[in-house]
Amino acid sequence: MPLCIVTLAAGQGKRMNSSLPKVLQPIAQRPMLQHVLGTAKSLQPSKIVIVYGHGGTQVRAHVLDEDLIWAYQKEQKGTAHAVMQALDYLDPNERVLILYGDVPLLRAETLQRMVALPCSDLVLLTQRLSDPTGYGRILRNISGQVQGIREEKDASVQERNIQEINTGIMLVPANRLAGWLARIDCQNAQGEYYLTDLVQLAVADEVPISTVEPGEPWEALGVNDKSQLAQLEKIYQYHQAEALLKAGVTLMDPERVAVRGQVTCGRDVTLDVGVILEGQVTLGDNVSIGPYCVIRNAHVGQGSIIEAFCHIDGANLGGLAHVGPYARIRPGTVTAEGVHLGNFVEIKNSTIGVYSKANHLTYLGDSTVGERVNVGAGTITCNYDGANKHRTVIGDDVFIGSDTQLIAPVTIESGATIGAGSTIVRRAPAGELTLSRSEQVTKKGWKRPRKGKTE
Ligand code: UD1
Ligand code: CA
Repeated sequence: MPLCIVTLAAGQGKRMNSSLPKVLQPIAQRPMLQHVLGTAKSLQPSKIVIVYGHGGTQVRAHVLDEDLIWAYQKEQKGTAHAVMQALDYLDPNERVLILYGDVPLLRAETLQRMVALPCSDLVLLTQRLSDPTGYGRILRNISGQVQGIREEKDASVQERNIQEINTGIMLVPANRLAGWLARIDCQNAQGEYYLTDLVQLAVADEVPISTVEPGEPWEALGVNDKSQLAQLEKIYQYHQAEALLKAGVTLMDPERVAVRGQVTCGRDVTLDVGVILEGQVTLGDNVSIGPYCVIRNAHVGQGSIIEAFCHIDGANLGGLAHVGPYARIRPGTVTAEGVHLGNFVEIKNSTIGVYSKANHLTYLGDSTVGERVNVGAGTITCNYDGANKHRTVIGDDVFIGSDTQLIAPVTIESGATIGAGSTIVRRAPAGELTLSRSEQVTKKGWKRPRKGKTE
């Protein structure tokens, strides 16, 4: 039977103390709502409806997906009221799964176990907690059948001792939802329309109620404040690190590596302490990443060594690269095999040929660098004239002396040598030495000025 999913995301999240709506607060740099939608989509539902309210414009602007249906809840009058806002978009012949934008770590496997139960059942995701404080409690009769859910604020002292809690996630049989919602009132301690009241209506209508427990104890954890957000981030990162270890990656400290995207690693990759991987990252066989590096949307070719404190963003590094320490490789950088980029080197939007080196204090921007080029310390491509960017082209086997400025657009032809300290404004011909440097002079008998003597 087809399935539709309703995700509740209208709450304000006051306790976050943030101007960012709660469901946009990130886990691994991705809004919690996106995590939930990712899991929702993996169940291949016929539609996903998001009930939104607080920070509505911001939420919609962040989640650009044409397949989603947005239902606005003007006032937050309770979870049943929230689901009511989605009713117009639902098909009465489809089961409805209720998820929450602030419960981001729920696994698809667990939801699949709920979906596998008979279509005529009301299925609840419940959990036994040693400290059930704050949650709705599951009421069962002596034969163990679910009779209802009691919100903590409405519960008696005895009921509060019940350890089985309502995670809020439920799967409602087709045909039933609209009728049940119409029968829910707000005669309770909070004056809200409780979705949990569906349970007693199911009992009254003799609809079977079944329960499923999450496979992992952290799956149904919700986020109300920054402390819980940090806790879930830690759980999420723990599992990212476990997955890397399982795939054969060596982590110097699994608790001090962060994955904020999709990472693919070859064999025998090593990540030192403090490595942060963001976006789409692929690391080839035998790649070693030193301490405190950020690698974002990048490929690092096999056998490469990235030394400590490098920032690599939007780059494609060929095999056997040696980068850093303290290098910054920016978007649009493509290097061939065996390229060395040393300390305090910045590269942007440039291609670099095999075995070329820039080992110290260099900026190469908008450049095409050939093979076996040696770029001396302190070389700068002056690619920006204040209005436009220009390219620098450096041929194969060029040697550029230290402290050189290459004023783009400019071409250094193959085999050329540039003398140290030059400012190059025109083409440097192939195979020749070009330099622009004022003559060295010595002033015989010159004396240094001394303090107190003004004449
Ligand atoms: C709810 C359940 C409780 C369960 C708990 C699990 C009800 C009545 N109670 O309680 O049994 O143990 O979740 O965390 O359902 N929301 C809206 N619009 C609203 C109200 C809520 O979108 O008008 C959204 C909130 O953004 C939140 C979720 O629904 O994501 C849960 O709402 P919340 O008010 O936190 O419910 P609880 O009181 O925690
Ligand atoms: Ca809650």
